Amino acid sequence: MYSRIAGTGSYLPEKVLTNFDLEKIVETTDEWIRTRTGIERRHVAAPDETTCDMAEHAARRAMESAGVGPEEIDLIVIGTTTPDQVFPNTGCLLQARLGIHGPPAIQIEAACSGFIYGLSIADRFIRTGGAKCALVIGADMLTRIVDWTDRTTCVLFADGAGAVILKPSDEAGIMSTHIHADGAYSNLLYVPTGVSKKHDPAVANQHCVIMKGSEVFKVAVNTLGRIVDETLEANHLDKSAIDWLVPHQANMRIIQATAKKLDMPMEKVIVTVQDQGNTSAASVPLALDTGVRDGRIKRGDLLLLEAFGGGFTWGSALIRY
Ligand code: ACO
Repeated sequence: MYSRIAGTGSYLPEKVLTNFDLEKIVETTDEWIRTRTGIERRHVAAPDETTCDMAEHAARRAMESAGVGPEEIDLIVIGTTTPDQVFPNTGCLLQARLGIHGPPAIQIEAACSGFIYGLSIADRFIRTGGAKCALVIGADMLTRIVDWTDRTTCVLFADGAGAVILKPSDEAGIMSTHIHADGAYSNLLYVPTGVSKKHDPAVANQHCVIMKGSEVFKVAVNTLGRIVDETLEANHLDKSAIDWLVPHQANMRIIQATAKKLDMPMEKVIVTVQDQGNTSAASVPLALDTGVRDGRIKRGDLLLLEAFGGGFTWGSALIRY
Protein backbone atom coordinates (compact mmCIF):
# COMPACT_ATOMS: atom_id res chain seq x y z
CA MET A 1 0.00 0.00 0.00
CA TYR A 2 1.25 3.47 -0.91
CA SER A 3 -0.14 6.95 -0.53
CA ARG A 4 -0.46 9.24 -3.53
CA ILE A 5 -1.12 12.94 -3.93
CA ALA A 6 -4.72 13.29 -5.10
CA GLY A 7 -4.78 17.10 -5.15
CA THR A 8 -2.82 20.23 -4.28
CA GLY A 9 -3.73 23.77 -3.22
CA SER A 10 -2.07 26.91 -1.93
CA TYR A 11 -2.68 30.44 -0.78
CA LEU A 12 -0.71 33.67 -0.64
CA PRO A 13 -1.90 36.84 1.12
CA GLU A 14 -2.85 39.72 -1.15
CA LYS A 15 -0.29 42.27 0.03
CA VAL A 16 3.06 42.19 -1.78
CA LEU A 17 6.16 43.73 -0.23
CA THR A 18 9.00 44.34 -2.69
CA ASN A 19 12.69 44.74 -1.99
CA PHE A 20 12.24 48.42 -2.85
CA ASP A 21 9.58 48.69 -0.14
CA LEU A 22 12.09 47.15 2.30
CA GLU A 23 14.70 49.74 1.33
CA LYS A 24 12.39 52.26 3.05
CA ILE A 25 12.16 50.18 6.24
CA VAL A 26 15.75 49.01 6.91
CA GLU A 27 19.23 49.78 5.59
CA THR A 28 19.26 47.40 2.66
CA THR A 29 19.11 47.40 -1.13
CA ASP A 30 17.21 45.46 -3.74
CA GLU A 31 20.59 44.50 -5.20
CA TRP A 32 21.86 42.99 -1.88
CA ILE A 33 18.68 40.99 -1.31
CA ARG A 34 18.49 39.72 -4.90
CA THR A 35 22.13 38.71 -5.20
CA ARG A 36 22.38 37.09 -1.73
CA THR A 37 18.99 35.38 -1.65
CA GLY A 38 17.22 35.54 -5.05
CA ILE A 39 14.18 37.16 -3.38
CA GLU A 40 12.53 40.07 -5.23
CA ARG A 41 9.17 40.29 -3.46
CA ARG A 42 7.13 38.44 -0.86
CA HIS A 43 3.54 38.27 0.40
CA VAL A 44 2.62 39.61 3.83
CA ALA A 45 -0.61 38.75 5.65
CA ALA A 46 -3.19 41.41 6.51
CA PRO A 47 -3.25 42.50 10.18
CA ASP A 48 -6.45 40.54 10.89
CA GLU A 49 -5.39 37.44 8.92
CA THR A 50 -4.19 34.30 10.76
CA THR A 51 -2.28 31.13 9.90
CA CYS A 52 -5.55 29.18 10.09
CA ASP A 53 -7.14 31.57 7.56
CA MET A 54 -4.31 30.87 5.11
CA ALA A 55 -4.42 27.13 5.82
CA GLU A 56 -8.18 27.09 5.17
CA HIS A 57 -7.79 28.67 1.71
CA ALA A 58 -5.02 26.21 0.78
CA ALA A 59 -6.96 23.23 2.17
CA ARG A 60 -10.16 24.10 0.31
CA ARG A 61 -8.20 24.42 -2.96
CA ALA A 62 -6.48 21.06 -2.41
CA MET A 63 -9.82 19.41 -1.57
CA GLU A 64 -11.38 20.91 -4.70
CA SER A 65 -8.55 19.72 -6.92
CA ALA A 66 -8.78 16.20 -5.43
CA GLY A 67 -12.60 16.18 -5.65
CA VAL A 68 -12.79 15.43 -1.93
CA GLY A 69 -15.45 16.66 0.52
CA PRO A 70 -14.95 17.27 4.26
CA GLU A 71 -16.75 14.02 5.14
CA GLU A 72 -13.99 12.00 3.43
CA ILE A 73 -11.05 13.46 5.36
CA ASP A 74 -9.99 11.20 8.22
CA LEU A 75 -6.64 12.77 9.17
CA ILE A 76 -5.37 16.35 9.35
CA VAL A 77 -1.67 17.07 9.75
CA ILE A 78 -0.48 20.68 9.73
CA GLY A 79 3.09 21.90 9.93
CA THR A 80 3.33 25.38 11.42
CA THR A 81 5.56 27.29 13.81
CA THR A 82 3.24 30.28 13.91
CA PRO A 83 -0.07 28.86 15.19
CA ASP A 84 -3.07 31.12 15.83
CA GLN A 85 -3.17 30.19 19.52
CA VAL A 86 -1.27 28.03 22.03
CA PHE A 87 -4.24 25.69 21.86
CA PRO A 88 -6.46 24.43 20.31
CA ASN A 89 -3.87 23.48 17.72
CA THR A 90 -4.31 24.97 14.25
CA GLY A 91 -5.49 21.60 12.89
CA CYS A 92 -8.41 21.64 15.35
CA LEU A 93 -9.29 25.23 14.44
CA LEU A 94 -9.16 24.30 10.77
CA GLN A 95 -11.25 21.19 11.33
CA ALA A 96 -14.08 23.32 12.75
CA ARG A 97 -13.90 25.69 9.77
CA LEU A 98 -14.08 22.82 7.29
CA GLY A 99 -16.91 21.04 9.14
CA ILE A 100 -14.84 17.93 9.88
CA HIS A 101 -15.71 16.20 13.16
CA GLY A 102 -13.74 13.42 14.84
CA PRO A 103 -10.55 12.63 12.91
CA PRO A 104 -7.22 13.39 14.59
CA ALA A 105 -5.75 16.85 14.03
CA ILE A 106 -1.99 16.86 14.47
CA GLN A 107 0.13 20.01 14.54
CA ILE A 108 3.84 19.70 13.91
CA GLU A 109 6.36 22.35 14.90
CA ALA A 110 9.42 21.72 12.77
CA ALA A 111 10.00 25.20 11.31
CA CYS A 112 10.65 25.07 7.55
CA SER A 113 10.53 21.24 7.51
CA GLY A 114 7.01 21.14 8.95
CA PHE A 115 5.30 20.12 5.71
CA ILE A 116 7.79 17.33 4.91
CA TYR A 117 7.44 16.07 8.50
CA GLY A 118 3.64 16.15 8.07
CA LEU A 119 3.80 14.37 4.74
CA SER A 120 5.99 11.66 6.25
CA ILE A 121 3.58 11.11 9.15
CA ALA A 122 0.45 11.10 6.98
CA ASP A 123 2.14 8.73 4.49
CA ARG A 124 2.84 6.27 7.33
CA PHE A 125 -0.80 6.48 8.51
CA ILE A 126 -2.05 5.68 5.01
CA ARG A 127 0.48 2.89 4.36
CA THR A 128 -0.55 1.14 7.58
CA GLY A 129 -4.28 1.55 6.95
CA GLY A 130 -4.71 4.19 9.66
CA ALA A 131 -6.16 6.76 7.28
CA LYS A 132 -7.81 6.78 3.86
CA CYS A 133 -7.86 10.47 3.06
CA ALA A 134 -5.33 12.79 4.69
CA LEU A 135 -5.18 16.57 4.49
CA VAL A 136 -1.55 17.68 4.90
CA ILE A 137 -0.76 21.37 5.20
CA GLY A 138 2.23 23.64 5.63
CA ALA A 139 1.27 27.15 6.76
CA ASP A 140 3.31 29.89 8.34
CA MET A 141 3.19 33.59 9.06
CA LEU A 142 6.80 34.35 9.85
CA THR A 143 6.33 38.07 9.27
CA ARG A 144 4.66 38.12 12.71
CA ILE A 145 7.86 36.89 14.40
CA VAL A 146 10.54 38.88 12.61
CA ASP A 147 12.10 42.00 14.02
CA TRP A 148 11.33 44.61 11.36
CA THR A 149 14.43 46.59 12.39
CA ASP A 150 16.75 43.59 11.83
CA ARG A 151 17.82 43.64 8.17
CA THR A 152 19.49 40.23 8.47
CA THR A 153 16.12 38.47 8.92
CA CYS A 154 13.21 40.73 7.92
CA VAL A 155 14.16 40.68 4.22
CA LEU A 156 13.94 36.87 4.11
CA PHE A 157 10.68 35.69 5.62
CA ALA A 158 7.11 35.78 4.34
CA ASP A 159 3.62 34.32 4.69
CA GLY A 160 1.65 31.61 2.89
CA ALA A 161 0.10 28.15 2.99
CA GLY A 162 0.13 25.01 0.85
CA ALA A 163 -1.77 21.74 1.12
CA VAL A 164 -2.12 18.29 -0.40
CA ILE A 165 -4.68 15.50 -0.16
CA LEU A 166 -3.19 12.01 0.22
CA LYS A 167 -5.14 8.87 -0.66
CA PRO A 168 -4.21 5.18 -0.68
CA SER A 169 -2.96 3.62 -3.90
CA ASP A 170 -1.67 0.24 -5.08
CA GLU A 171 1.14 2.00 -6.93
CA ALA A 172 3.59 4.64 -5.67
CA GLY A 173 2.80 7.47 -4.94
CA ILE A 174 5.08 8.51 -2.21
CA MET A 175 8.04 6.16 -2.61
CA SER A 176 9.87 7.19 0.54
CA THR A 177 10.16 9.98 3.07
CA HIS A 178 13.18 10.78 5.22
CA ILE A 179 13.03 13.09 8.24
CA HIS A 180 15.77 14.12 10.65
CA ALA A 181 16.64 16.59 13.38
CA ASP A 182 19.73 17.67 15.32
CA GLY A 183 19.07 19.91 18.30
CA ALA A 184 22.80 20.56 18.70
CA TYR A 185 22.31 23.42 16.22
CA SER A 186 19.47 25.07 18.11
CA ASN A 187 21.58 28.19 18.75
CA LEU A 188 21.99 29.03 15.06
CA LEU A 189 18.31 29.64 14.25
CA TYR A 190 15.71 30.18 16.94
CA VAL A 191 13.06 32.31 18.61
CA PRO A 192 14.16 32.91 22.23
CA THR A 193 10.79 32.93 23.89
CA GLY A 194 7.95 30.44 24.10
CA VAL A 195 5.44 29.59 26.77
CA SER A 196 7.24 27.91 29.67
CA LYS A 197 10.68 29.52 29.45
CA LYS A 198 11.17 32.51 31.70
CA HIS A 199 11.60 35.75 29.77
CA ASP A 200 15.13 37.15 29.90
CA PRO A 201 14.85 40.93 30.22
CA ALA A 202 18.36 41.27 28.73
CA VAL A 203 17.22 39.84 25.38
CA ALA A 204 15.49 42.30 23.06
CA ASN A 205 12.64 41.18 20.78
CA GLN A 206 12.33 37.80 22.45
CA HIS A 207 9.50 36.68 20.22
CA CYS A 208 11.51 37.27 17.03
CA VAL A 209 13.63 35.02 14.82
CA ILE A 210 17.37 35.10 15.49
CA MET A 211 19.56 33.56 12.82
CA LYS A 212 23.30 33.19 12.28
CA GLY A 213 22.70 33.24 8.53
CA SER A 214 26.05 32.30 7.06
CA GLU A 215 26.48 29.38 9.51
CA VAL A 216 22.96 28.14 8.77
CA PHE A 217 23.74 28.45 5.07
CA LYS A 218 26.77 26.12 5.26
CA VAL A 219 24.99 23.43 7.30
CA ALA A 220 21.92 23.67 5.03
CA VAL A 221 23.91 23.09 1.83
CA ASN A 222 25.80 20.09 3.29
CA THR A 223 22.75 18.56 4.94
CA LEU A 224 20.56 18.87 1.87
CA GLY A 225 23.33 17.28 -0.21
CA ARG A 226 23.38 14.33 2.20
CA ILE A 227 19.62 13.87 2.21
CA VAL A 228 19.53 13.81 -1.58
CA ASP A 229 22.02 10.90 -1.47
CA GLU A 230 20.05 9.15 1.29
CA THR A 231 16.80 9.42 -0.69
CA LEU A 232 18.28 8.14 -3.94
CA GLU A 233 20.10 5.27 -2.21
CA ALA A 234 16.96 4.17 -0.35
CA ASN A 235 15.19 3.83 -3.70
CA HIS A 236 18.18 2.41 -5.66
CA LEU A 237 17.87 5.27 -8.11
CA ASP A 238 20.36 7.36 -10.01
CA LYS A 239 20.01 11.14 -9.82
CA SER A 240 19.16 11.19 -13.53
CA ALA A 241 15.79 9.59 -12.68
CA ILE A 242 14.46 12.75 -10.99
CA ASP A 243 12.18 14.85 -13.19
CA TRP A 244 11.62 17.77 -10.81
CA LEU A 245 13.33 19.12 -7.72
CA VAL A 246 10.79 20.85 -5.46
CA PRO A 247 12.99 22.45 -2.81
CA HIS A 248 12.42 24.55 0.28
CA GLN A 249 12.64 28.16 -0.86
CA ALA A 250 15.00 29.84 1.61
CA ASN A 251 17.74 31.06 -0.66
CA MET A 252 18.39 30.74 -4.41
CA ARG A 253 22.04 29.85 -3.76
CA ILE A 254 21.05 26.92 -1.52
CA ILE A 255 18.58 25.74 -4.18
CA GLN A 256 21.28 26.00 -6.88
CA ALA A 257 23.70 24.00 -4.73
CA THR A 258 21.17 21.15 -4.36
CA ALA A 259 20.39 21.24 -8.09
CA LYS A 260 24.12 21.04 -8.82
CA LYS A 261 24.45 18.04 -6.51
CA LEU A 262 21.74 16.34 -8.61
CA ASP A 263 23.29 17.52 -11.92
CA MET A 264 19.92 19.09 -12.65
CA PRO A 265 19.54 22.15 -14.87
CA MET A 266 17.63 24.96 -13.13
CA GLU A 267 14.81 24.46 -15.68
CA LYS A 268 14.01 21.24 -13.79
CA VAL A 269 13.75 22.99 -10.43
CA ILE A 270 10.52 24.62 -9.22
CA VAL A 271 11.67 28.01 -7.96
CA THR A 272 9.28 30.44 -6.28
CA VAL A 273 11.67 32.17 -3.89
CA GLN A 274 11.88 35.28 -6.10
CA ASP A 275 8.15 35.96 -5.71
CA GLN A 276 7.41 34.42 -2.31
CA GLY A 277 10.52 34.67 -0.08
CA ASN A 278 10.89 32.08 2.65
CA THR A 279 7.41 30.99 3.74
CA SER A 280 8.79 28.34 6.13
CA ALA A 281 6.56 25.22 6.28
CA ALA A 282 4.47 26.54 3.37
CA SER A 283 7.29 26.85 0.87
CA VAL A 284 7.47 23.25 -0.40
CA PRO A 285 3.70 22.72 -0.89
CA LEU A 286 3.45 26.22 -2.42
CA ALA A 287 6.18 25.32 -4.93
CA LEU A 288 4.53 21.95 -5.60
CA ASP A 289 1.14 23.54 -6.24
CA THR A 290 2.77 26.16 -8.50
CA GLY A 291 4.44 23.46 -10.62
CA VAL A 292 1.27 21.36 -10.80
CA ARG A 293 -1.07 24.23 -11.68
CA ASP A 294 1.19 25.77 -14.35
CA GLY A 295 1.43 22.35 -16.03
CA ARG A 296 5.16 21.70 -15.56
CA ILE A 297 4.63 18.80 -13.12
CA LYS A 298 2.64 16.03 -14.80
CA ARG A 299 1.18 12.74 -13.56
CA GLY A 300 3.91 10.08 -13.60
CA ASP A 301 6.79 12.55 -13.05
CA LEU A 302 9.31 11.72 -10.33
CA LEU A 303 9.63 14.53 -7.78
CA LEU A 304 12.20 15.11 -5.07
CA LEU A 305 10.92 17.37 -2.30
CA GLU A 306 13.33 18.62 0.37
CA ALA A 307 13.39 21.07 3.27
CA PHE A 308 15.71 22.37 5.95
CA GLY A 309 14.90 24.60 8.91
CA GLY A 310 15.21 25.63 12.53
CA GLY A 311 15.98 22.88 15.00
CA PHE A 312 17.76 21.96 12.85
CA THR A 313 15.14 19.82 11.17
CA TRP A 314 15.36 18.50 7.64
CA GLY A 315 13.65 16.01 5.39
CA SER A 316 12.84 14.80 1.90
CA ALA A 317 10.19 12.92 -0.02
CA LEU A 318 10.51 11.02 -3.28
CA ILE A 319 7.18 11.03 -5.07
CA ARG A 320 5.86 9.53 -8.29
CA TYR A 321 3.26 12.22 -8.91
N1 ACO B 1 21.01 44.27 3.42
C1 ACO B 1 22.27 44.68 3.31
N2 ACO B 1 23.31 44.12 3.98
C2 ACO B 1 23.02 43.09 4.80
C3 ACO B 1 21.70 42.61 4.95
C4 ACO B 1 20.68 43.24 4.24
N3 ACO B 1 19.38 42.85 4.30
N4 ACO B 1 21.72 41.56 5.82
C5 ACO B 1 23.02 41.39 6.19
N5 ACO B 1 23.79 42.32 5.57
C6 ACO B 1 25.23 42.47 5.67
C7 ACO B 1 25.80 41.89 6.95
O1 ACO B 1 25.68 42.80 8.02
C8 ACO B 1 27.23 41.64 6.56
O2 ACO B 1 27.94 42.85 6.63
P1 ACO B 1 29.47 42.87 7.19
O3 ACO B 1 30.23 42.02 6.22
O4 ACO B 1 29.80 44.32 7.14
O5 ACO B 1 29.37 42.28 8.57
C9 ACO B 1 27.14 41.25 5.08
O6 ACO B 1 25.86 41.73 4.62
C10 ACO B 1 27.24 39.75 4.82
O7 ACO B 1 26.35 39.07 5.74
P2 ACO B 1 26.24 37.49 5.74
O8 ACO B 1 25.27 37.08 6.78
O9 ACO B 1 27.62 36.88 5.77
O10 ACO B 1 25.61 37.26 4.28
P3 ACO B 1 25.34 35.91 3.53
O11 ACO B 1 25.96 35.96 2.20
O12 ACO B 1 25.61 34.70 4.39
O13 ACO B 1 23.75 35.98 3.30
C11 ACO B 1 21.74 35.04 4.21
C12 ACO B 1 22.89 36.05 4.40
C13 ACO B 1 20.95 35.45 3.00
C14 ACO B 1 20.88 35.09 5.45
C15 ACO B 1 22.30 33.62 4.00
O14 ACO B 1 23.31 33.38 4.94
C16 ACO B 1 21.24 32.53 4.11
O15 ACO B 1 20.40 32.42 3.26
N6 ACO B 1 21.33 31.68 5.14
C17 ACO B 1 20.47 30.50 5.28
C18 ACO B 1 19.03 30.82 5.62
C19 ACO B 1 18.26 29.52 5.79
O16 ACO B 1 18.34 28.64 4.98
N7 ACO B 1 17.54 29.37 6.88
C20 ACO B 1 16.92 28.08 7.16
C21 ACO B 1 15.50 28.05 6.93
S1 ACO B 1 14.62 29.27 7.82
C22 ACO B 1 13.66 28.52 9.08
O17 ACO B 1 13.80 27.39 9.40
C23 ACO B 1 12.66 29.36 9.81
